Amino acid sequence: VSRTHLAFRPASRRRHLGVAELSELALEFVPRASLSAAALPKSKRSWALLGATSEYEVFVNTWPAGGSIELHDHGDSAGAVVVVSGELTETRIVSRAGNIAGTRVETFTAGDLLKLELGCVHDVVNQGPLHAVSVHAYSPRLRSMTFFNKIGTTLDPVRTLRYGS
Ligand SMILES: [Fe+2]
Repeated sequence: VSRTHLAFRPASRRRHLGVAELSELALEFVPRASLSAAALPKSKRSWALLGATSEYEVFVNTWPAGGSIELHDHGDSAGAVVVVSGELTETRIVSRAGNIAGTRVETFTAGDLLKLELGCVHDVVNQGPLHAVSVHAYSPRLRSMTFFNKIGTTLDPVRTLRYGS
């Protein structure tokens, strides 16, 4: 990721980073993640902002054993997640022609990368015995997340959280 990403750009000149650039960005923040993670509560899933510009933002997330987030999307943002320590198990909705074709379950460990293409819907849980730490990069900055119940082959929106102004 070039340094130009660190400068403020007027809205009309902003561009969105794709999952490949977001993956590089998330990896760049890994060395800073452990220190920030150490300051977060150990008892519940927690997060802290590591860096942001008008075009992207990067968080560290911590996951106690058993910690999870329900099935959700990332609004209008694409993203990338790098596991820093511990392990995370993702269940991702696989859709075909707009319909749910199934789910894919994968467990990721330190150094593994999850690419969150625009429209990706997944849940994540720490099924491991240890605390897990991950770095998450989003572009554009995360403005909303919608949570879903999966009922058969449909996703039923339960609630939408909105962030920022
Ligand atoms: Fe997510």
